Amino acid sequence: MSSHAPLAVVILAAGKGTRLKSKRPKVLHEIGGKPLLAHVIAAASRVVAPEHIYVVVGHQADRVREAVASTGVQFVEQTEQRGTGHAIQCARSAVENYESLLVLSGDVPLIRTESIERMSRFHQAERAAMTILTAHPDDPTGYGRIVRRAPGSPDVEAIVEQKSLAPGQEKIGEINSGIYAFKSATLFAHLDKLTANNAHGELYLTDMAGILRAANERVVAIQAENAAEVLGANTIAELIALDAAMRDATAQRLMASGVTIFRPETCIIDAEVEVEADTVIEPFVQLRGKTRIGADCSIRSYTVIENCTLGNAVEILEHCVMADSSVADGARIGPFARMRAGSEIGRNVHIGNFVETKKTRMGNGAKANHFAYLGDSDIGGGSNIGAGTIVCNYDGFHKHRTQIGEGAFVGSNSTLVAPVTIGDGAYVGAASCITKDVPADALAVGRARQVTKENWAAARRAKIKAAKEAGK
Ligand code: UD1
Ligand code: CA
Repeated sequence: MSSHAPLAVVILAAGKGTRLKSKRPKVLHEIGGKPLLAHVIAAASRVVAPEHIYVVVGHQADRVREAVASTGVQFVEQTEQRGTGHAIQCARSAVENYESLLVLSGDVPLIRTESIERMSRFHQAERAAMTILTAHPDDPTGYGRIVRRAPGSPDVEAIVEQKSLAPGQEKIGEINSGIYAFKSATLFAHLDKLTANNAHGELYLTDMAGILRAANERVVAIQAENAAEVLGANTIAELIALDAAMRDATAQRLMASGVTIFRPETCIIDAEVEVEADTVIEPFVQLRGKTRIGADCSIRSYTVIENCTLGNAVEILEHCVMADSSVADGARIGPFARMRAGSEIGRNVHIGNFVETKKTRMGNGAKANHFAYLGDSDIGGGSNIGAGTIVCNYDGFHKHRTQIGEGAFVGSNSTLVAPVTIGDGAYVGAASCITKDVPADALAVGRARQVTKENWAAARRAKIKAAKEAGK
């Protein structure tokens, strides 16, 4: 563990989140497509390096650790969740040698780096032992309230939890965000004075305000510029409100950079999505994960795109479902296309309705306009895949690849049994079942020959008519 470094961040994330009534630990519930805790770690990572961020885990600790392990943060275990003050006691040996501590809450995810830094600067400038980030939300119910020593004074007398409010105190509009700065030596000198003498029988970190005051230490508060960013989430309804706020912020960010989003309130756009100027997004579109979309694209209604990269001037028509794939400039996809993981779609490719691709590369200008399954295939540029083409990539045991050369023509309703190769410029006759390689520029026809019987239908009708007449 690092010692004598100036600043550490402690993130409280051990709680169960009883009020969510969910099996999933609260800090792993998602807003904007990302766990609450991941948002808080991202904000903290721009203040200190991850080796100075200590996440206190407890309830389903392994699951929480695993979800954010890739960020490189440190973990501290709180095996029994005996309150926010107890969580800091559990972190003591890891962080007591830092000069200052910033404490963040794993369930207050909209907090911005700028606000954390502003609080930290105020804390240093005021030479305080404890600094509390506060806000005046529309409805303070449920939050701890700030009792200032005098109106307008930065100095705080105490934090009073909702359940301990004395008559009249419920009118206090200033709330505790659960985000603090501490001078570590002073915090740890007094931390053991916490008692569980309260409504929940827990050790409240909030009680440190009164304890430090009583010891004649300086406790101050600074108000967040924007109450929305310190709202917590204790219930599903509160989580959904934060999700809406985060998605609104994302849509605003994209629109400010030149993207047109019609009815943004109907779209679900994850926090990390990037879109370039002059792209138009219609109502009820979902853009998820790390999706990147270039300029001048059109994404039409009811399309869902997850972790895809789209070039410029790409047109995605209505009702497409696309994941973990890439589409190059000028391609036109849909309506009703399904693009599964590993599809690499070249420039100016056309993929039409009810075409499914998976681990398939389509070269520039290739077309598959109607009804097809194209799995585990390499399709050369300029090829035309007819309606109803099915690649049989699975033999019941293994998956095999299909190679189709450049400028090939696969007639409608063909079945290509992999592994198989169709050469450059080759033709496959409609309704063929292709089991052997087709050389370049050849024609392969793999279907029963047509038999035509002249006058057969007329003769049959005459025979039936004669039988009827004989019968009466
Ligand atoms: C807390 C504050 C309250 C403040 C509010 C802001 C206390 C006593 N109250 O209340 O003043 O207005 O946050 O959102 O601190 N946690 C642990 N270990 C525990 C208990 C909790 O790590 O033993 C973690 C939780 O996972 C959560 C955070 O601490 O991320 C806050 O705990 P929570 O129970 O949500 O506190 P609130 O009731 O919201
Ligand atoms: Ca909370």
